[in-house]
Amino acid sequence: MGRYDKSQAYHDRARRTLARGVSSAMKATQAPVPLCASHGRGSRVWDIDGNEYLDFALSFGPMLLGQSPAVVLEAVRRQLDSGIGFGAGNGHEAPLAELICEVVPSAELVIFSNTGTEAVQAAVRVARAATGRTRIVKFRGHYHGWLDSVHVSIPGVPGDGAGTGGQDPMAALYTTTCDWNDVGSLTAALADDVAAVVMEPINVNGGCFAPEPGYLEEVRRITREAGILLIFDEVITGFRVALGGAQELLGVTPDLTVLGKSIGSGFPLSAVCGSRDVLSVVASGVVNHMGNFNGNPLAAAAGLATVRHLREHRSAVYPRLDASMRAVAGAFERARTEHGLPVRFNHTVGAGFGFSSPGPVRTHEDRLRSVPEDYGVFAARMLARGVLVPARGLWYVSTEHTDDDLARCTATIVAVAEELVGQMSGASR
Ligand SMILES: Cc1ncc(COP(=O)(O)O)c(C=O)c1O
Repeated sequence: MGRYDKSQAYHDRARRTLARGVSSAMKATQAPVPLCASHGRGSRVWDIDGNEYLDFALSFGPMLLGQSPAVVLEAVRRQLDSGIGFGAGNGHEAPLAELICEVVPSAELVIFSNTGTEAVQAAVRVARAATGRTRIVKFRGHYHGWLDSVHVSIPGVPGDGAGTGGQDPMAALYTTTCDWNDVGSLTAALADDVAAVVMEPINVNGGCFAPEPGYLEEVRRITREAGILLIFDEVITGFRVALGGAQELLGVTPDLTVLGKSIGSGFPLSAVCGSRDVLSVVASGVVNHMGNFNGNPLAAAAGLATVRHLREHRSAVYPRLDASMRAVAGAFERARTEHGLPVRFNHTVGAGFGFSSPGPVRTHEDRLRSVPEDYGVFAARMLARGVLVPARGLWYVSTEHTDDDLARCTATIVAVAEELVGQMSGASR
């Protein structure tokens, strides 16, 4: 029996009727085979072959409180007993919106959606309606979901074009791309018809690097003076780098904020929040915010339980997440300097995430040059030793990773580095 036989058989079966055998492209990148999970608890997941893994994929970010967090499950179970969905509001939406307004600096009004992609679409629409302008400026290598208008110049794809086949080329006609961390590139991209500048305030998808000192403040000043709205896409950083997200950590407040992933602890929940003035276009009905499942009772219950828990435990949660990622980053550094593993680990202050790649990543071009195949060899060896890491390099930690978990993970990184001496090219494209 091979270690992944049942996952392999399941994937073979799935491919016959489920395109690519998985439900999102990211899962297809898992080597040697896309795993089929059976269950998860705390810092661990199990696959259908019975293999146990320390989980540093965390469903690509959402499981900030670990797998199956009791506090969230209890709230969702209570709601399940009362109903799943209504053509009416539910008792979790207003308390959750109030909580978001309390903890996220830019939030005075909130709208709920299901996914990050949908919330980005809502934010862009709000920005256009609020300014009466059309153009959106985005940054090379930042990812904002799979929406045609922003799925251009995405991480790992060269050029400023479409990120996938089948995109409507007209949808990005009013999208201008420019370089992040470069004030000159932004000012050159600005024009009279710009409604909004959208960015990840810490460039997580592009390789986990922080804004240069003063950069965000300058972008804030420039956009405010030009009457352009600043949108922070905090789908990853929200509730993860600080309770109030990157805007709290870095001290710069956008006009609109997009939240997703961690807010729902794995239930599909996202939000746009921002100034009362800007979101008045939704409050007044100028912008129709549509969606059958927006703020649905189960997701809203999960969101409320998650954010309440984070607020209550914030003084312990955030230093712990930071320390955990520092431990992982330290192991990568030891593996590189002492064992020659050609992998670096980018990790910004306060972040419960990090990005590993063959070379240092400070720009979109660096990210393009990094060699994912090489990293994939490393990720597959980690998997074989019981540590689940996403094949494209973005690691996450949860509040449930213990010191023992981290010690096991760091020892595994070093052991795999020793095993791979001379086998990874470390080349950059
Ligand atoms: C920064 C950012 N924005 C938006 C999205 C899209 O979120 P979703 O996959 O929930 O549509 C993602 C997803 O990874 C993301 O990382």
